[in-house]
Amino acid sequence: MLNKIALIGAGNIGGVLIQEIVRRRLARNVAVVDVKEPDLAKGKALDIAEGSPVISGDIKVEGAKQYDVIDGADMVINTAGVPRTRRPDGTIPTREELLTTNLKITDAVSGGIQRYCPKALVISIANPLDAIVFRLNMNLKPPRERLFGMAGVLDSARYRYFVAEAAGVSVENVEALVLGGHGDNMLPIRSACRIAGMPVEKFVSPEKLDAIEERTRKAGGEVVKLLGVGSAFVSPAWSALEMAEAIIFDKKKIMAASTLLQGEYGVNGLFVGVPVILGANGVEKVIEMELTDKEKSAFENSVQSVKQTADEVIAMTSK
Ligand code: APR
Repeated sequence: MLNKIALIGAGNIGGVLIQEIVRRRLARNVAVVDVKEPDLAKGKALDIAEGSPVISGDIKVEGAKQYDVIDGADMVINTAGVPRTRRPDGTIPTREELLTTNLKITDAVSGGIQRYCPKALVISIANPLDAIVFRLNMNLKPPRERLFGMAGVLDSARYRYFVAEAAGVSVENVEALVLGGHGDNMLPIRSACRIAGMPVEKFVSPEKLDAIEERTRKAGGEVVKLLGVGSAFVSPAWSALEMAEAIIFDKKKIMAASTLLQGEYGVNGLFVGVPVILGANGVEKVIEMELTDKEKSAFENSVQSVKQTADEVIAMTSK
């Protein structure tokens, strides 16, 4: 159990995170900050705090519009951002406008972390994932073990779910990794997909796997279309908590994380989804896995997209 976990953003994902942290008793204190009027964070915190005697009491939950609420947190989970939605005048922001807005928000988030909990370990979920985690790193410059992005755990969970469904087996039997950037060219690694230790191809045909991998790459968009408003929020929250628990309980668990590469996979200075060991210190080791030639070239493609995004962030923030 940690002393304090801070959540930035009390929206859909932030709301699930508070509930689950209280339910799972992961910290004695949970603090949530959100700028939304009249006081979304305080409202969500109060709702959950008032319910806590019924489920598992004595976890202190606090919410506020000001960042001082996160003072002294050991761990921060960042979900702050605005989605791509129609404005009141009917227009839709361009990708660039949206990125500009979300980078400004990320700068405010960085300022809050820097001021109130500079030593906290940071897990970032906000999208566009690759851009936000890169910007947080530019601002905070933490040791690389202490800042990473959550994308691969969710993308891998989606891949596992689709494979389990196609094979007619328990999701618990399916192991999988999705690597690279968190975009349309993310990389489900078929050679690492196993069903109870056996190669996935024993259970699912190559054609079906092609379709599953394509669906995995587009899975976020599929949910967005179905919901009508907003994006997936339960599965991203659970995925971030999978990472948080590996750290809180020092599990040394291997999973995909968007991590700052320092020469691994021939990449330097970019956050890319790769398998890591997560333990009490955060990212304790980056694992360089063997990829087939086809996977290697797809990984390089994905890294190219991540690099483009990083260049965009540098250009936009140095204006
Ligand atoms: N500080 C704190 N919170 C902020 C700030 C800020 N500077 N700016 C915006 N927020 C808050 C918004 O007010 C909103 O309540 O971030 C919250 C985001 O919540 P939602 O819009 O409900 O989005 P959610 O579904 O939770 O997703 C959060 O994670 O998966 C990604 O694409 C998703 O980027 C999105 C993020």
